[in-house]
Amino acid sequence: MGRVVVVGSINDDLVVVAGRLPGPGETVAGTSVSHSSGGKGANQAVAAARAGAPTLMVGGVGRDEAGDRLRAGLRDAGVDTAGVRVVDGPTGVAIVTVAGGENTIVVVAGANARLDPHQVEAVAVAPGDVVVAQLETPTEATVAAFGRARSAGAVTVLNPAPAAPVPGALLDLVDHLVVNEHEVELVLGVAAADLVADRGDARQRLRAACRATVHLTLGADGQLVLGPDMAIAVPGRAVEVVDSTGAGDCFTGSLAAGLAAGVPLEAAVRRAGAAASLSVTRPGAAPSMPTAAEVDAVLA
Ligand code: RIB
Repeated sequence: MGRVVVVGSINDDLVVVAGRLPGPGETVAGTSVSHSSGGKGANQAVAAARAGAPTLMVGGVGRDEAGDRLRAGLRDAGVDTAGVRVVDGPTGVAIVTVAGGENTIVVVAGANARLDPHQVEAVAVAPGDVVVAQLETPTEATVAAFGRARSAGAVTVLNPAPAAPVPGALLDLVDHLVVNEHEVELVLGVAAADLVADRGDARQRLRAACRATVHLTLGADGQLVLGPDMAIAVPGRAVEVVDSTGAGDCFTGSLAAGLAAGVPLEAAVRRAGAAASLSVTRPGAAPSMPTAAEVDAVLA
């Protein structure tokens, strides 16, 4: 089995639960506030480790209480934190407001902005490993990590979240691209609805825009996987959504674990979709990631 190496963000999520999300200029009453482990990278690492993959986290935290707590949380989840550097300055923070299963998030990068190409180049990557990244850490570091992965014969997975354009130099190094409906439109210029309906030349335009296998996540509607010569539609599961924070991270980390274990693509996608459907039934980001046994029970 290969190892999952997650290059990405680690955040201290300050989670506020409210009856509804406030609009611009509006104040609403909250019902609870708590600290929770988060950051898209750390969430993906926890998802991969709980799915059973040997997982290394590469990132940064500040020299502060949150940094110590988040590193301990990763270790408790079975993630190797040898790649996490402690830097001067604050740990990344995300202010997460949750209402009726929906959320809004504001992120202050802190130590995540300090991840640099030298740090990722120091990480050993082997054939069969799966290197995963998102867009909450500097692009130069991700390009360096994926370049190293490509030359080592490892597989790369990019989740371009939070949604932002992806430079061609990075997109060319991606084997699996995990996108939701907003990200696919912003990154590849193709509407999710057109891809799902196989309308016009949407799937050809997607292929022209990137060579990666594209995993379009559609929430309750499941996933659509589009590769150079294949299309797989995986139906969603009807669940009661408590908190969707980190659902995309859960899918990405679980998919990476499946790929590292050599699970055939369709089965790996089904497992990742089932894992994500479980994660939204629980509060929090990293704490909501299910174990392999829990996913087995859902799929049985
Ligand atoms: O994807 C969810 C994550 O986005 C949260 O945990 C928060 O830290 C932000 O990075």
